[in-house]
Amino acid sequence: MKPIKVGLLGLGTVGTGVVRIVEGHQEDLSNQVGSPIMISQILVKDRAKGRNIPVEGSKLTEDPWEVVRNPDIDVIVEVMGGIAQTKEYILEALERGKHVVTANKDLMALHGPEILEKARAKGCDVLYEASVAGGIPIIRTLIEGFSSDRITKIMGIVNGTTNYILTKMSQEGAAYSDVLKEAQELGYAEADPTSDVEGLDAARKMTILSTLGFRSNVSLDNVSTKGISSVTQEDIQYAKHLGYAVKLLGIAERQDDYISVSVQPTMIKQSHPIASVNGVFNAVYVHGEAVGETMFYGAGAGEMPTATSVVADLVAVVKNMKLGVNGRQAQLSYNVVKLKTDEQIASKFFLLLHVEDRAGVLAQIAQVFSNRDVSIESVMQPSTPNMSSTEIIIITHDASKAAMNNVLNDFESLSAVRKIKSVYRVEG
Ligand code: NAP
Ligand code: HSE
Repeated sequence: MKPIKVGLLGLGTVGTGVVRIVEGHQEDLSNQVGSPIMISQILVKDRAKGRNIPVEGSKLTEDPWEVVRNPDIDVIVEVMGGIAQTKEYILEALERGKHVVTANKDLMALHGPEILEKARAKGCDVLYEASVAGGIPIIRTLIEGFSSDRITKIMGIVNGTTNYILTKMSQEGAAYSDVLKEAQELGYAEADPTSDVEGLDAARKMTILSTLGFRSNVSLDNVSTKGISSVTQEDIQYAKHLGYAVKLLGIAERQDDYISVSVQPTMIKQSHPIASVNGVFNAVYVHGEAVGETMFYGAGAGEMPTATSVVADLVAVVKNMKLGVNGRQAQLSYNVVKLKTDEQIASKFFLLLHVEDRAGVLAQIAQVFSNRDVSIESVMQPSTPNMSSTEIIIITHDASKAAMNNVLNDFESLSAVRKIKSVYRVEG
């Protein structure tokens, strides 16, 4: 049987896992697809670098065009990362009729529609399961498993690095910077971890999930994004005390034809299944009109979980090759994106205020909420004896984002409020 030849772009964390699985599971894989799968060329930045697995030196190249233009290669597996150059390589590979598997959420979130369009025109597959939530097969699930339903909400912990950091801060009282360093050493974080901690990585993944879930081309600009760098140990401890966990949540919601997509540190009730997703694990909660609540859980980053998704895509491409159906994906984005306004986006909120500790202050604060038509669910004032200032914690009932912004603006000019220390969306 003629082997299927693969050109691997990148031999870092994920690429190494891909080689391990393709070589280690060769018999199983070839039984499934009816041909051996062979990694015939590997692009790296530095051929002289030591590798964690044995690789024949003759397979390594530093020239990307040697791989993407190699006429013997059937499938390009892109696990090198990057956007502009990588897009060029992928478009060139498609132009030459090669199928593509990628783990690159940055590329797919920004240029997915263009790349998929090119693939369709050339009769090629582009599969990207590993781009969101590492080892969880959520992309295939949204495309196929939910094809009969109308999704109303997708809520996900889709960044392993930040979940690892928040878990360690919560469970061990660890310092943010120490845990970030650990996550980098474990291969979870991006080359530049700013995109993890500032929420951009999660926003890119939510762009992909909401595009698939709402069947419309959501763009990264449509995702309101805030990361975890301002989350404090104090916030986490207050959340715990009130029965919440702090998680970086991606939340995509649809009401009628209007959608909103956001990423932000969120306080979620400890009784919600997503609140107990800890460490580098990811989870995606999906609510469909017909199916109701579902949740998908697994490792969201790291060598082997991510490589499993990449190689599963490779198997799917080869099966399609055998059937002669590559590039015949259904039209996935046929709805026009209509974004909710801030008046239409509603949730509960948590506020931690630093206020003057004297008669009448609580009444002034309550008056601001009343003026802006925001209803308070609970108020807590931890005792701070012998001080002229104190902290007040307020949880609201559902309020619009616009009304909440008005409340916060009013507090800025209220002298009794010395500082708005924290504001969180509350879920569950
Ligand atoms: P990585 O460890 O940094 O590996 C990148 C690999 O690509 C390295 O082998 C590097 O070569 C090679 N490379 C990078 N730029 C190159 C260039 N310009 N020319 C030639 N070779 C180049 O990255 P990774 O963590 O495996 O991630 C790869 C992709 O998977 C990224 O898109 C990432 O977002 C995505 N992803 C990663 C994870 C994860 O858990 N790590 C999970 C899901 C998705 P050298 O080895 O010679 O430096
Ligand atoms: N840096 C990413 C994360 C890798 O921490 O989730 C997986 O996409």
